[in-house]
Amino acid sequence: MPIEILQTHKLLASCEQALAERYAVHKLHEAPDRDALIADLAQRVRGIAGGNVDAALMDRLPKLEIIANFGVGYDSIDTRAARARDIRVTNTPNVLNDAMAEITMGLMIALARRIPQADQFVRQGKWLSGSFPLQSELNGKTVGILGLGRIGKEIAGRCQAMRMRVIYHGRHRQELEPFVYYSSLVDMARDSDWLVLVAPGGRSTEKIVSRQVLEALGPAGRVVNMGRGSLVDEAAMVEMLISGKLGGAALDVFENEPQVPEALFGLDNVVLSPHQGSATHQTRQQMGALVVKNLEAHFAREPLPSAVV
Ligand code: GLV
Repeated sequence: MPIEILQTHKLLASCEQALAERYAVHKLHEAPDRDALIADLAQRVRGIAGGNVDAALMDRLPKLEIIANFGVGYDSIDTRAARARDIRVTNTPNVLNDAMAEITMGLMIALARRIPQADQFVRQGKWLSGSFPLQSELNGKTVGILGLGRIGKEIAGRCQAMRMRVIYHGRHRQELEPFVYYSSLVDMARDSDWLVLVAPGGRSTEKIVSRQVLEALGPAGRVVNMGRGSLVDEAAMVEMLISGKLGGAALDVFENEPQVPEALFGLDNVVLSPHQGSATHQTRQQMGALVVKNLEAHFAREPLPSAVV
C-alpha cells in the first residue's frame, strides 16, 4: 500500500507529479468538503506536503509524522504544536537565496529610479514633451538589513556590489560578518537610507518594524519588505507613506496578501510586487525537489535534508 499524504495547497506541477509517483496524494485544497476528507483520512495520513498546518489539523491526523513545507518560511505551521506531537517539519532553504536576492535588488533599483513610472512615461508618449525627472541611486547609501540569515547575506553581498554600506540587526551579532551590528533596530533604522526586511515571520517578529522604527528611518528612508507582511505595522507604514513621513517602500509581502491596502495603489513612492521572491522556474523546481527529498528521506528513515523540527 502506498504511503498516504495530504497536500494542503497547490504546488508546482513537477512537484505534484513527483509526489504522485511516490505516494497516494489527497488534495485538501481541492476537496469539496475538507472536513469530510480529513475525517476519512484521519487514520491513514502520515505526511503533509505544503503549509497552513495548525494544532487542530495535527490533532485530527493522529498518524501524521512529517510536514514538508514548500517555502523557506514556515510561519504558517505551528512548529511548537508539531514538536509537542513528535511531528517533523521541513522547509526549503538555500535553493531560493539567489532568486530572493536578485529581486530584492530589482525592487530597490525600481524604487530608487522609478522604473515602473519611467516605463509608463515612455508608453504614454510623455517623453516627447520633456525629460523624466532625475532620481536617486543606491551607490553610497547605507542599507540596514533586518535578518542577516542565508538570504540576508546574499542581499548584503549584492548591496556591496552596488557600493552601498551594509549594517544589520538580528537577535545576535555574527562575529564572522564584516558588517556593523546594531542591537537596536530603531538605532539601525536611524542610520539607514534603506531598510531591508528579510527576517522570518511568526509571533516573535510580529510588527517588529513599528511606527517608531519607521519614524527613525524617516522621510528620506525607504523600506523594502521581502520577508513577511507581519513584520511591519502596515497601517502605520501606509499612513506615513501618504503623509511623507516615510520616503518610500518596495513591498513583496503584505499583512493580508493577496489583499493589498488600496491606499498604496495611488502612491508614487511605492513599488508593489505579488510575493514573488522565489518565483522563478529554476528556484521553484529546486524547492519542489527539496519537498520530495525530505519526505523520501523521512519515510526511508534517513536524515532529513532540511529539518526545522
Ligand atoms: C516564501 O515566502 C518562502 O517562505 O519561501
